[in-house]
Amino acid sequence: MNTFTMSLSLLLLLLVYSTQATHFYGTVMTYYPGDTYADGSVMVNIRYKLNFHQCTDSDTWSCLSGDCGSGNNTLYEVKQESSGEWCQTEGIMTQWAPSNAPFKLWLNSGNWINGIVNGIVSWRAVTLVELRNRSDTGKANSSPQTTNIPAVRVPSNCKRNFVLLAFDPDGDVVKCRNGDALLSECIPCTPPSVLSLSPSCTLSFRPTNSSNEGPYAVQLVMEDFPRQNITLTQTNGTQTNLTTNNAISKIPVQFVIRVDPAVPSCTDGLYLPKFLPPTPANGAQLYTPVGQTLEISIKAEATNSMISELLYSGPYTLFQNKTGPGEFILTWTPSESETGESHPICFVVQAVSGIAKYHSDFRCVIVTVEKVYVAALSARISFSLPFTADNVNSVIIQKIKEELEKQGLPPDASLRLVRGDQV
Ligand SMILES: *[C@@H]1O[C@H](CO)[C@@H](O)[C@H](O)[C@H]1NC(C)=O
Ligand SMILES: *[C@@H]1O[C@H](CO)[C@@H](O)[C@H](O)[C@H]1NC(C)=O
Ligand SMILES: *[C@@H]1O[C@H](CO)[C@@H](O)[C@H](O)[C@H]1NC(C)=O
Ligand SMILES: *[C@@H]1O[C@H](CO)[C@@H](O)[C@H](O)[C@H]1NC(C)=O
Ligand SMILES: *[C@@H]1O[C@H](CO)[C@@H](O)[C@H](O)[C@H]1NC(C)=O
Ligand SMILES: *[C@@H]1O[C@H](CO)[C@@H](O)[C@H](O)[C@H]1NC(C)=O
Ligand SMILES: *[C@@H]1O[C@H](CO)[C@@H](O)[C@H](O)[C@H]1NC(C)=O
Repeated sequence: MNTFTMSLSLLLLLLVYSTQATHFYGTVMTYYPGDTYADGSVMVNIRYKLNFHQCTDSDTWSCLSGDCGSGNNTLYEVKQESSGEWCQTEGIMTQWAPSNAPFKLWLNSGNWINGIVNGIVSWRAVTLVELRNRSDTGKANSSPQTTNIPAVRVPSNCKRNFVLLAFDPDGDVVKCRNGDALLSECIPCTPPSVLSLSPSCTLSFRPTNSSNEGPYAVQLVMEDFPRQNITLTQTNGTQTNLTTNNAISKIPVQFVIRVDPAVPSCTDGLYLPKFLPPTPANGAQLYTPVGQTLEISIKAEATNSMISELLYSGPYTLFQNKTGPGEFILTWTPSESETGESHPICFVVQAVSGIAKYHSDFRCVIVTVEKVYVAALSARISFSLPFTADNVNSVIIQKIKEELEKQGLPPDASLRLVRGDQV
C-alpha cells in the first residue's frame, strides 16, 4: 500500500516538472515612444508576445543594461491553438524611464519545447529601446513592427517562403539577421540548417528528406536603419551620430518552424490550404479610424484535408468569427491610445487530415490607426449642380473644406461625407 502511494506521488512530481521545464515557443517585442516630461523623463509603450505550451505559462522581462526605469505590465490571451499545442499571450508594458538614454530588456530562462532539432534548450531574447530625439524626424524612434505565430508548419518535401512582416513606422530600412550569442541575443544561436534567411526577412525552406523532420527554433533579430546619416540627441544634450549602417533599435523575433512528414502533393488547395479572395495580400497596409471596427475577411480551401481553424497573432483585442467552411473574419477596434500607431496582424489557415496538420502560407497585414475629427456641420449650401457622388467628391467637399479651413481646419485634413440630405 505504502509503496504504491509513494510511486504514484513520484510520478506526479515528474509530470509537473516536465511540463514546466519544456514549453517555450518564442517571443516578439515592439515599442512606440510615449510622452516626454519637462524633467527629461520619458514614457514608452512596449508590447510583446509570449508563446508557450499553456496560457498560464509566462516569463518576465528584466533590465539587461542602461536605466530601464520602472513600469507596469499586464498579460492578455491572444490565441490558443485548438488542440492545446500552444498559446500566445500579449503583454502591455507602460515603462517610465528617467531619461531618453537607450536601454536593453531581456528574457533569460528555460526551456524551449522538447526535441528542438537545432539544439536550442534555454531561451534568451534582447530588445534595444532607443528613445533619443532623431534629427531626421524630430522625435523619438519607434521599433520595427512585426509579429509571429508560435509554430508554423511545412511538410519536409515542399518548398516554402516565410515572408515576415517588416514594417517601420518611421520609414526606416528594416533588416533581419540571426541572433548573436556574443550580444546575449540567444544561447546558443545555432540557426536551423533547413532555412536560409535573407536580410529582407524572408526565411526560405527547400524540400529535404525525412531525416530533417522535427521542430526548429528560429531566433532572429529585426533592426531599423536610418535612410540617411542622423544624429540622436539625449535630454542632457549629448549627441551621437549614426550612419545608414548603424541600427537604431532592435527587437527579437523568435518562433518554431515544424518540418512535418512529407505530404502526397505540395500543390496549394489539395492538402495545404490555399488562400482565396478576399483574403488580403501578404504585407497589405490597411487603415482604420480610432473606435471603428476593421473587418479582415479570410477565405481558404483544401480539397484533400479539412480546414479546421484560423491561427492568428495580433493585438489582444483582435477577435475572430468563423463564418462558413474555410471562411473567417478577424475584427479589431483600435482604442484612442493607439491613434497614429501601426499594428501587425499575421495569420495561417490550418487544416487536418487524420493526425496530420497542414498550414497555408503565412500572411501578415499592417493596420494603421487614423485620427478622426467628427465634425457636425450644420449649414445650408446651395449648388446648381445635381447631387451625385462625383459632384459630392469633386466640388461640394472641396467647397466645404475651403470654408472649414477659414475657420481653422488643418489644410492636410481629409474630409469624407458620412451622410447628406438634399433639402
Ligand atoms: C500603467 O501605467 C500607465 C501610466 O502611468 C497608466 O496609464 C496605466 O493605466 C497603467 N496600467 C495599469 C494596468 O496599471
Ligand atoms: C526633438 O528635436 C526637435 C528639433 O529637431 C524639437 O522640435 C523637439 O521638441 C525635440 N523633441 C524632444 C522630445 O526633445
Ligand atoms: C538526408 O539529408 C541529409 C543531408 O541533409 C543527408 O546527410 C542524409 O544522408 C539524407 N538521408 C537520406 C535517407 O537520404
Ligand atoms: C555619413 O557619415 C559617414 C561617417 O561619418 C561619412 O563617411 C559619410 O560621408 C556620411 N554620408 C553622408 C551622405 O553624409
Ligand atoms: C548625459 O548622460 C550620459 C549617460 O546617460 C552621460 O554619459 C553623459 O556624460 C551626460 N552628458 C552630459 C553633458 O551631462
Ligand atoms: C556628428 O556629425 C556632425 C555633422 O553632421 C559633426 O559636426 C559632429 O562633429 C559629429 N559628431 C560626432 C560625435 O562625431
Ligand atoms: C463574432 O463572435 C462574437 C462572439 O465570439 C459575437 O459577439 C459577434 O457578434 C460576432 N460578430 C460577427 C460579425 O459575427
